[in-house]
Amino acid sequence: MMKVTKAVIPAAGLGTRVLPATKSMPKEMLPIVDKPAIQYIVEEAVQSGITDILIITNRGKGLIEDHFDRVPELEARLENGGPEKEAILKDVIDIAHRANIYFVRQKETRGLGHAVNCARSFIANEPFAVLYGDDVILGKNPVCGQLIRAYEEFGLGVLGVKEVSPAAIHKYSSLKVENIRGCYYKCTDMIEKPSEGQVMSLFSILGRCVLPPEIFDILDQTAPGAGGEIQLTDAMCTLARSKGMVAVDFDGRRYDMGNKLGIMQANCEVALEHPEIGGAFRTYLKELAKTL
Ligand code: UTP
Repeated sequence: MMKVTKAVIPAAGLGTRVLPATKSMPKEMLPIVDKPAIQYIVEEAVQSGITDILIITNRGKGLIEDHFDRVPELEARLENGGPEKEAILKDVIDIAHRANIYFVRQKETRGLGHAVNCARSFIANEPFAVLYGDDVILGKNPVCGQLIRAYEEFGLGVLGVKEVSPAAIHKYSSLKVENIRGCYYKCTDMIEKPSEGQVMSLFSILGRCVLPPEIFDILDQTAPGAGGEIQLTDAMCTLARSKGMVAVDFDGRRYDMGNKLGIMQANCEVALEHPEIGGAFRTYLKELAKTL
């Protein structure tokens, strides 16, 4: 079984749900307390054993490239700032060295499937992980690694899934699944943005998958689907129907950074656990809650 060492982070969406914040700033750069969302995602990939990451960007996402670069002027200033600034300096330099990070542009916003297809020559003939650029998933056990372990066991494409509410399923995807054991399910069919009669289960793909390189030939043949976009779910559906895929009901808290409430939930929960401001924020939140 080939090891999974490459990952793709699609970050070329328009982010229309968080305008005007995302008019000139990519939504992947929205901070969760003191780190941009995409840094949490890169850290998850690195903790999962990924060594090479391709970030798919588009026009106006130069900030993402800058974030993973060195900044000599800033580093020089921190170096002269005494012991207090030393830890910050290490953090700032580390970001640029955690993995080999590459960038490619999706030239037209034609959907997540089209964005992933831009990774073809980077991936070549290997299995790879996809981490959606606006889905931050936190927890003790990095989710990308949970999926890679399932890939190594079953040798099939793997989907990170969670049950969503019946009211929300229409905004996501719906999967046909059968339990294998514990959190592992066999998936043989799926549909993106199901209408009322099309829901197969409340399990939905949330932000992570591991795919075999065959997906690229399938993507080439995939016609535009929901919203007129080339949907990754449609290509994965072809794979699920022919070979089957494995769905992992993962362990982790997922935040949708493409939506306003998701951004606030992520900030609140990360702030509560933050070593520097956690205590003070907890006190503040308790006081505030009394007035609600
Ligand atoms: P979304 O479905 O959230 O689309 O994309 P969006 O355009 O970013 O957001 P809204 O709905 O306008 O607010 C899911 C993931 O796929 C990427 C996005 O960056 C996000 O990480 N994506 C989507 C691309 O890279 N390219 C695309 O053409 C579409």
